[in-house]
Amino acid sequence: MSGETLTVIDNRTGKRYELPITHGTIRAMDLRQIKVSEDDFGLMAYDPAFMNTASCQSRVTFIDGDKGILRYRGYPIEQLAERSNYLEVAYLLLHGELPRKAEYETWVYDITHHTMIHENVKKLMDGFHYDAHPMGMLVSTVGALSTFYPEAKKIQDAASRQKQIHRLIAKMPTLAAFAYRHSLGQPYAYPDNDLSYPGNFLNMLFKATELTYTPNPVLEKALDVLFILHADHEQNCSANAMRSVGSSHADPYSAIAGATAALYGPLHGGANEAVLRMLTQIGSKDRVPDFVKRVKAGEGRLMGFGHRVYKNYDPRAKIIKRLAEQVFETTGRNPLLDIAVELERIALQDDYFVKRKLYPNVDFYSGLIYQAMGFSTDMFTVLFAIPRTSGWLAQWEEMLLDSEQKIVRPRQIYLGSPSRDYVPVERRG
Ligand code: CMC
Repeated sequence: MSGETLTVIDNRTGKRYELPITHGTIRAMDLRQIKVSEDDFGLMAYDPAFMNTASCQSRVTFIDGDKGILRYRGYPIEQLAERSNYLEVAYLLLHGELPRKAEYETWVYDITHHTMIHENVKKLMDGFHYDAHPMGMLVSTVGALSTFYPEAKKIQDAASRQKQIHRLIAKMPTLAAFAYRHSLGQPYAYPDNDLSYPGNFLNMLFKATELTYTPNPVLEKALDVLFILHADHEQNCSANAMRSVGSSHADPYSAIAGATAALYGPLHGGANEAVLRMLTQIGSKDRVPDFVKRVKAGEGRLMGFGHRVYKNYDPRAKIIKRLAEQVFETTGRNPLLDIAVELERIALQDDYFVKRKLYPNVDFYSGLIYQAMGFSTDMFTVLFAIPRTSGWLAQWEEMLLDSEQKIVRPRQIYLGSPSRDYVPVERRG
């Protein structure tokens, strides 16, 4: 692409500048040479919410939002969901290539053998209120892990980074399951190394008095596919939080706590919980048109619809919709599905949604599967955080190894008061 340039004429000064264009992008720092005087700071780009700013160069995930394409390291999400498994995908995201057989076996062994958490983390869990939201517990306990592994601060040490990556991917399901058991007042169930990654998670969640827990293979497979679909999504809000916290060279447990907190919000990972609440509130198919009318009148949003990047059907939503049918054959049909399908049908032919290119996103159908599998709604975002951990870590490591990256520190346009003198309290009007 070299040789491509952008010519800028500053009408304040009449000066002309040639800015190089690389990968369809100009460098914001190139704007700084555009000044009206020697002591001028130089031109900046104003971009609230990063609507049109690339914050990094990445080789992890590719999205074409207009065409509805999602690829991890070049592999289409549809092929990975069909033929791979979550741990293999996590390896792919972090290492850039699919593992060879021996690499895969070592990777699975390493993750499987880091699933236990320190008994003091359990005590920390015990301190939470009985109705504590599991996302709040997850944010706190994953952050607390940094105090158990102080060597994690050695972020420039590749071997230490690798160890923390194993631990984080391995322990997130354990923290999540323990948070869930705490909310039910049930004793914690320890990891079972003989089970698969999703199988062990189901074990820690649902094991009762049986000696060994056998996961339902359909649900185990469905959870694995959902984990694959949620593993990464390039520079979304939580990945940006991960890179941002990590850019200060904080340890990865603290950075994952920051990313998990970003995921918690209803505009991001919290949307799946909000979708379920919305469908329950609508209550029946015949009330869908009235609900859509209210959304169009600005009384709330159609949760699980719309995306900053996808202006077409989210490819993950397509896979999840099909998966839901398979899961419902085992669990029984979730009655809210009919409301969701009707909502999608009406929205997709309504001018309001068509004009704004609002399509179902990953969260629209995932909650229905989670609910059918027996999860309470407040566990939904936790189920997003577990697989996203591998994506966050891939983004974090890429950021650390990128020589162009520095501590994240945006600029601002200051519009506040000019300089003024302090006024003692008795003289304030
Ligand atoms: N329902 C109704 N109207 C909507 C919706 C919606 N779900 N989403 C966007 N719009 C409208 C919005 O009001 C605006 O209309 P207008 O131009 O008349 O003001 C227009 O569409 C553009 O919306 P925006 O808010 O400027 O778009 P954004 O890119 O800032 O927001 C979004 C993206 C995902 C936050 C938003 O679509 C939304 O709030 N969706 C519902 C929440 C949701 O499902 N979030 C999950 C996202 S996917 C998974 C994840 O990231 O975790």
